[in-house]
Amino acid sequence: MPDAPPPLPPPRPRVLSGMRPTGTLHLGHYHGALKNWVRLQATHDCFFFVADWHALTTHYQDRSAIESNVYDMVVDWLAAGLDPEQATIFIQSRMPEHAELFTLLAMSTPSSWLERMPSYKDQVEKNRELATFGFLGYPLLQAADILIYKAALVPVGEDQAAHVEVTREVARRFNRIYGGKTDDSARILPEPQALLTETSKLQGLDGFKMSKSAGNAIAMRDEPAVVEDKIRRMPTDPQRVRRSDPGDPARCPVWAFHELYSDDATRAWAETGCKSAGIGCLDCKQPVIDAIQREQAPWRERAAEILANPKQVHWIVELGTERARAVARKTLKEVRVAMGLVY
Ligand code: TRP
Ligand code: SF4
Repeated sequence: MPDAPPPLPPPRPRVLSGMRPTGTLHLGHYHGALKNWVRLQATHDCFFFVADWHALTTHYQDRSAIESNVYDMVVDWLAAGLDPEQATIFIQSRMPEHAELFTLLAMSTPSSWLERMPSYKDQVEKNRELATFGFLGYPLLQAADILIYKAALVPVGEDQAAHVEVTREVARRFNRIYGGKTDDSARILPEPQALLTETSKLQGLDGFKMSKSAGNAIAMRDEPAVVEDKIRRMPTDPQRVRRSDPGDPARCPVWAFHELYSDDATRAWAETGCKSAGIGCLDCKQPVIDAIQREQAPWRERAAEILANPKQVHWIVELGTERARAVARKTLKEVRVAMGLVY
């Protein structure tokens, strides 16, 4: 008798996440999200998309900003090591299926769930231009993004945890109303789990959260000379005025970079040297400059390859969009049937 075929490997749990294309990516994006995505693609069935509709909810007056960032961001993703053979990469606005699910979910979602989101209230108070229907619907659109792929896991930062929670509530309510007698394992829209990414240790050059608009960021693809210049200009312990003044790393924004980039020995060297005034701040910064440049080298190389053949990025997105569409269509069909929309 021939041997029985080996059992199929269990299906990989599905992961979905999106990023808003609001600027070129910096080291904070890499260490706060992208690094984790690259890791997950080896073990999970990953879907990663450019959330351009979500960017429009807040930047609807500024179309050019989004336009120029969409493919730049995909290049950054690929440069960081996302592999289109392993992960499905696509653009939200190429998937009208998300919008249809959003509309259908809107029927059963109480508006109070959206009005009470902390992200909504605070931001509208600060900026009246955000008092739009689209921005109110932001979390529900995100729910549609997630549920249409029946994602099990959603890697996000702390700031997005409430959106995943509301997604679970939306799914639960939908299943209760339209799910018939299906048991847990056959839920139409399974409830996803947030995979909270440890908030990146990386602060900006000034010690505050790294962001492009704050002007305190190092872009993933900054040239080596730019990186060197930015780090050399970084403020240090304000109490270390002269080279001969001892300092304290606890007061210095450079230290956060050592914590992320340096090994124990380098950190010990920097700490002792700082506290004893044995080293100068430029000495202390050099290993950080070297480490960032080392980290960026493969990104820059891959980005150059990709940019040498720009059609390739478009192809990658085409392929990802088709793969995503096959899954999205299937869910949408089930939802239409459940809601009685098949005539
Ligand atoms: N709102 C997310 C952010 O600002 C981006 C996003 C849109 C998203 N849709 C998503 C993240 C679905 C995870 C899953 O970061
Ligand atoms: Fe900061 Fe290093 Fe200077 Fe100390 S020696 S103040 S840790 S840059």
